[in-house]
Amino acid sequence: MPVSPILRAQSTYPFVRLNQAAAERRARGLEVIDFGMGDPREPTDPRIIEALKQGVRERMGYPAAVGLPELREAVARWLGRRFHVEVDPGRHVIPTLGSKEAIFSFAQVVLDLPGGRDTVVVTEPGYPVPERGAQFAGARVVALPLLERNGFLPDLDAVPVSDWQRTALFWVNYPNNPTGVTAPLSFYEHVAALAREHGFVLASDEAYTELWFDEPPVSALQLPDWTGLVAFNTLSKRSSMTGFRSGFVAGDPELIAALRQYRPNVGTAPQEFVQRASVVAWGDEEHVERARATYARKRGLFLELFEDVGLSDAGGPATMYLWVAVPRGETSEGYATRLLELGVLVAPGSFLGPSGEGYVRFALVPSEEECARAVEILQDGLA
Ligand SMILES: Cc1ncc(COP(=O)(O)O)c(C=O)c1O
Repeated sequence: MPVSPILRAQSTYPFVRLNQAAAERRARGLEVIDFGMGDPREPTDPRIIEALKQGVRERMGYPAAVGLPELREAVARWLGRRFHVEVDPGRHVIPTLGSKEAIFSFAQVVLDLPGGRDTVVVTEPGYPVPERGAQFAGARVVALPLLERNGFLPDLDAVPVSDWQRTALFWVNYPNNPTGVTAPLSFYEHVAALAREHGFVLASDEAYTELWFDEPPVSALQLPDWTGLVAFNTLSKRSSMTGFRSGFVAGDPELIAALRQYRPNVGTAPQEFVQRASVVAWGDEEHVERARATYARKRGLFLELFEDVGLSDAGGPATMYLWVAVPRGETSEGYATRLLELGVLVAPGSFLGPSGEGYVRFALVPSEEECARAVEILQDGLA
């Protein structure tokens, strides 16, 4: 049977391996507290769920790729409030089914293989979807390492000009999964200057802008010139709505027009009842503040633990992730296995890219009680 060689060449999605190991432990009747995947387990605000229910009609036709004007307006208002930018809901925004599908397929929208724009630049360790989408689109992928000594920002000067000249698309992700660091606006200015100089698209994956613990992170959309620039955001993390599948792309009107043309081919318009629930979600900050406070409490518990047991928190002040350096002489996978034997499931950094070796990632998604229990287990087990 024919199978895409790109599919065949891909290793098992790392989290599948991780979940298998945990399932085996559970099958033996042992406890596992799961800090592996970044799927928030906080309840969704009841007002959002109510809006979803109210949005269901007796007959619902195909949703349009451009999305409901009410949703585009809600997103534009949110971007205006949050980042002080002026957004035209008619030209600058398109809704997406969460951001994963939009991130995956975006290379197909901008790559020009016959024209020599065949390269997608990503950062690693990182969310694997930009790279995988690029591979399926037939791109050459260049992965820039995120290193602790550079504050987990890519070294842009290390990229040869010949690579930039072939680049169709550069993906950046701040606040960053997995390192939790944020990028200053000057970083986006630097990348945008390179994008203008070499004619590539800058895509900013901003899934975690709302999960912060010192000051609100900036958006690439705060740059004055949106030519060649798009930002992807989502309700998944901000509003604990992973199951709803609701996000958006905003930025350069020419790129938004390209998405309006492309997306009906794939059938990726969000269901209207989800869009109506999303209007309520983008319109409210109270539930987001509550979520941030919960994550901050969980984070506090772990930071205290790390200090007590001599672990180094290498990561930054945002996202739901803690990026922890493993003790000297241990590997990511070895250390994660050791923690799993204690009943605590974390992601080995090496699953997220070669530069993730030497770290493990805690996704602070279990409940506060479970977090307290895990801290207790680790206090005993690692002491
Ligand atoms: C960096 C990053 N971007 C985007 C996403 C996509 O989330 P969603 O498709 O739920 O919006 C995730 C999810 O884990 C992520 O970690």
